[in-house]
Amino acid sequence: MTDPSPAQQLLASPPPDSDVLVRAPGRANLIGEYTDVNEGWVLPVALELATVVAGRAGGGLLRLRSLDLPDEGTVEIDLATGRGPSSGWGRYATAVVEVLRDQGRALRGIDGVLASDVPLGAGLSSSAALEVAVALAVLDEPVDPLALAQLCQRAENEGVGVQSGLMDQLASTGSQAGAALLLDCRELTTEHVPLPPGLGVLVVDSAVSRDLSSSAYNERRQQCEQAAADLGVGSLRDATLDALEDRWSSMDEVVRRRARHVLTENARVLDMARALRSGDAAPLGALLAASHESLARDFEVSTPELDQLVEAALATPGVVGSRMTGAGFGGCTVSLVEVDRAQEVREEVLRRYAQASGRAPRGWVSTAADGASVV
Ligand code: GLA
Repeated sequence: MTDPSPAQQLLASPPPDSDVLVRAPGRANLIGEYTDVNEGWVLPVALELATVVAGRAGGGLLRLRSLDLPDEGTVEIDLATGRGPSSGWGRYATAVVEVLRDQGRALRGIDGVLASDVPLGAGLSSSAALEVAVALAVLDEPVDPLALAQLCQRAENEGVGVQSGLMDQLASTGSQAGAALLLDCRELTTEHVPLPPGLGVLVVDSAVSRDLSSSAYNERRQQCEQAAADLGVGSLRDATLDALEDRWSSMDEVVRRRARHVLTENARVLDMARALRSGDAAPLGALLAASHESLARDFEVSTPELDQLVEAALATPGVVGSRMTGAGFGGCTVSLVEVDRAQEVREEVLRRYAQASGRAPRGWVSTAADGASVV
């Protein structure tokens, strides 16, 4: 047994004077990468790893101290003016307050602490978990999971400058324990698709850290928009593989591969949801493998380390399937594993990858967890 993390401790025993306690999870995307920004489908799960805020409500300030990053001091945001830090983790909180103010939401001051066991910069949506936790703490009115996710996505887009989609924030606000969240990013409809009881989620960090804003994320988005324009549709959601084949030779060599990834990935998400719904684990491994391959070759967001990590997982008994998860350029893989031997599988994957890469990976076994809540 490992010791409880600061976030788990904070959740179990918040400071005695706190009257607000919120928890917002990170996520692992099972399948459907870069499809949210093309009005397609995604299938993430919320993780047991989460960000926790505990504090006392009242006054006109959001004052938070991070138990994980004590050197960064106390973040203070004036709810009346929206003024707050523009760097460090505090900039996410400032961005959230900014958007909530802009929408005229009722806000309350908070004086408290924050802790997170979502690893930073590992592609498990630590920033979405932080945004959602801060929003739930300062909001003085109920907001439904979709609206809350959209507010936090806007904070990420405007405040942090990454043109990311809705997946991370909605996985954090809208998930249900035991199920993956099938999200249709055009219709904004969701379905909770239960995971087979025998399967657990293993997330392993390749120990190559990533920074979304400095990465080629926005460039990938533009290439997808270019592809949609070339195919004469408003978004790749409306394109077909037949149409892509017809236009193939007239399209830019990179742009057409980006499109092929998105179109085939959308089909894989729907296939995976269908397999999970019918309790059929047989196609899962091949779908995860095809997704990884497509992200590596057509979308070019994998890294040699992520490839090695997937290989290490696939060589380990008890692993049903594995692929990179999230935006790529480093970060984590997600694997579906036999739940009875999940810890043993975790250790073996870590051992194999450490040996192959010379890096020091970390890994977490998780169930599909509940979305964010005020505890
Ligand atoms: C990041 C973004 C998401 C999504 C993924 C890639 O996590 O925040 O919106 O686009 O990358 O699937």
